[in-house]
This record gives sequence, C-alpha cells and structure tokens, in this order.
Amino acid sequence: MTIGVLGAGYVGLATAASFAARGFAVVCADIDEKKIVKLQIGELPFFEEGMKEVFAAASTPAMFTTDLPKACVCDIVFCCVGTPSAADGSADLSFVRSVAKTCADAAPNAVFVLKSTVPPGTSRSILEFVQGNLRVAANPEFLREGHAVQDALNPSRVVIGADDESVKLILLDLYTPTGAPIISTNTVTAEMIKYASNSFLATKISFINDIANLCDVIGADVRSVAAGMGLDDRIGAKFLQPGPGYGGSCFPKDVRALMHLGQSVNVPLRILEATTAINADRQSLPYRMLIESLGSLERKRIVVWGLAFKPGTDDIRDAPALSLLRRCMADDARLVAYDPLVRSLPSEFAEIEMAGSAIDALQNADALVIMTDWPEFVDFDRAEILKAMRGNCVIDPRYVLR
Ligand SMILES: NC(=O)c1ccc[n+]([C@@H]2O[C@H](COP(=O)([O-])OP(=O)(O)OC[C@H]3O[C@@H](n4cnc5c(N)ncnc54)[C@H](O)[C@@H]3O)[C@@H](O)[C@H]2O)c1
Repeated sequence: MTIGVLGAGYVGLATAASFAARGFAVVCADIDEKKIVKLQIGELPFFEEGMKEVFAAASTPAMFTTDLPKACVCDIVFCCVGTPSAADGSADLSFVRSVAKTCADAAPNAVFVLKSTVPPGTSRSILEFVQGNLRVAANPEFLREGHAVQDALNPSRVVIGADDESVKLILLDLYTPTGAPIISTNTVTAEMIKYASNSFLATKISFINDIANLCDVIGADVRSVAAGMGLDDRIGAKFLQPGPGYGGSCFPKDVRALMHLGQSVNVPLRILEATTAINADRQSLPYRMLIESLGSLERKRIVVWGLAFKPGTDDIRDAPALSLLRRCMADDARLVAYDPLVRSLPSEFAEIEMAGSAIDALQNADALVIMTDWPEFVDFDRAEILKAMRGNCVIDPRYVLR
C-alpha cells in the first residue's frame, strides 16, 4: 500500500515517518521548496525528538517532493497542511481546499484523509467543493510536539471519521495493527472530537491560571493545589500547571475557530470566551510584574529564559515569550534571550541578543523572566541566579524555581 502525505510540517513529517517506519512506501509533498531540499539531504526543518533517526532508517531522497500530484496518486492521501486563523477567527481552509483540488484533479476517487485540524463539517464541504471527485475522511491528529514521532507510532487513540463504509474499512485496516483504541464515527463527529479536545485542554490551563491568580492573593501555594487536585484521577495532573498562558500553533487558533463556529450557529461557547480572556490576562502578567518591579523598562537589561511555547520543541509559533518580547521592545528595554533549542528569532526581533547559555545571559541583567519550563532551568536556585545578575528581579510565572 502506498501513502501520500501533503504538507511536510510537524504533522506531515510525523505521519510520513510513522508510516515509513511501518514499512509503507511513502511520498511526502510540500510547496515549500527549501524545506523539501533540506529533507532530501537528510535535514529536518525543525527539531523533533527521534524524527531524524526514523527518516535516516526508513526514507529515501525520492520520498520528499514538491510534485504534489505525485503524492496524490497513492492508495491513501493524508492532508496535513496548515489551517491558520483567518481574520474573523475562523479556520482558514484555503490550503486544504488547494490540495483537495490538486488531489481531485490528479487522482479522482482517491481516498483523501484530513489530518489537518478542520472545523466540523469540513470533510463534507470539501467533498462538495471537489464535486464528489474524492473519497473524503476525517482522521484528526493528536500528536504532541516534542513527542511527535512516538505519538504517531503509538497513538493514544485513533479517530476515524467516515461517511462512506468503504473508506472506513480502509482506515480501519490501516490503523488496527497499531493496537490503539479506535473510535469510528461520521466525519462531523470526528472533526468535533479534535476541537473539543484542544479546547478542553486550553480550558484546563486557564482554569488553573485563574486559581493561581486567587492563590497568589490569599497566600495559597498553587503548585500544591495543582498537585493535590491532580492526584484525583478524575482530574489528572496534566495541563494543570500555572503559567503565562497557553500558546503554540494549535490551542489559540483552535479555540478561536470553535468559538467562531458556535457563534455562526447561535450557540456561543461561553466557557471558551472565559478561557480566552483568562489566557490574554495571564500572557500579560510577566510584563505587568516587570513594570511593578522596575518601573520603566527603558534601557533596562531584561533576560528571557525560554522562547519555545513549551519544552521539547523549537516551535515559537504564538509562544507567550514572543508577546512579552514585543511589549518590552515597545518600552525600549535591552533584551537578551536564551533557549536550549531556539537559536534564532524572526527579523522583527533582530535587536534581541541571543545568549549561548542560561548563565551567560544573566550578566548585568536587571531582571530575569522564565517563560518556558525547560528542565535545565529547574536545576538553578535563586541564590545562584541572583549572584550572576546585576539586579534582583526574578519573575517565574511557570513556578520553575524551587
Ligand atoms: N503541530 C501540532 O502539534 C499539531 C497537532 C495536531 C494537529 N495539528 C494540525 O495539523 C495541521 C498542520 O499542522 P503543522 O503544525 O504540521 O503545520 P506546519 O505549518 O508545520 O506544516 C504545514 C505544511 O503545509 C505546507 N503547505 C501549505 N500549503 C500547501 C500546499 N498547498 N501544498 C502542499 N503543502 C502545503 C506548508 O508549507 C507547511 O510545510 C494543522 O491543521 C494543525 O492544526 C497540528
């Protein structure tokens, strides 16, 4: 069986790697020529634990191509292109529509499987858009960046959304050998499972952040509160860490898209409105704490430890650290950043000095803000940090330091 993958991002490459590792012939296509050239010479466009090794063992240069139709003439074609936020908060489906059209033209009747996160109803609208010239299924992806390959190889669950029995059977055959629990349903329900999952996780983060706001005022220790709650297996400890709000390429846009969908059918999702408002407030907390401690930030040397939106990845899309950097730049602060994996920033941040190590970054610092809970930051104690700095302002919105 041959597998086509459209889009060579986190999801596309993890999908390609996992099927290649399982022995399938895989063709992975992307419109980004630079990315494809890199992949053809064995380099990854981003860091992802274990991915390089899987491709080294299972890929051939011919596996990666900019020839999209080539990836469409496969037995199963996975759509893994991006679905960013449009200006009104809805999901921008233009990339999905574009590859669906390419696929329908190149291989009418192909099995076109949406792994991209798409609003409920998209599989059906794509089928209409290509005038029935594809067999469309929804198979949302639940991988976690930083564990993408492992998650693709050993999924926690597989959701198969099919409105057509023959497509459902093809996907059941493909995934049954993984041993993962399989939920088989219609396309609109499958699409909803993904949005509801991400929105729930975002809400869990905002919940503990709201509790953290209260704990800080009444003198309770939110870390112990979270630990105590997390031991209840009805609640669970994951996604219960207070911090400077959720970021990344998924939660913000998926919450926005689900709210937009709710509004469009007159079912406003009030809990997500609160989730979003709390998140915006927590994202501005480190900046507010800096102002409270330093007064004006003008010409102050401010160090930011951690740029990635979470540990284990070099992905900075919608990372809370970037919104802090923007605010501090607007106040004419002198900024130094250090992250174990992120070695450069987009040109908008050209004025920011990138340090080679956490401790080097602290030289002459007036303030330190810890924005990502990388394990290496946990090893520091406050006294060691304060000794290396000029000032004494340490802001730790993720409660990394003991
Ligand atoms: N990143 C995650 O952790 C994650 C997890 C689950 C689901 N998702 C969802 O999966 C989808 C992809 O996410 P991602 O993080 O892999 O995105 P990404 O931005 O890393 O990758 C998307 C890729 O699609 C390519 N692309 C865009 N238009 C194309 C076209 N017309 N033809 C071919 N390639 C095209 C881009 O060049 C890019 O390489 C999104 O819908 C996302 O919400 C992401």
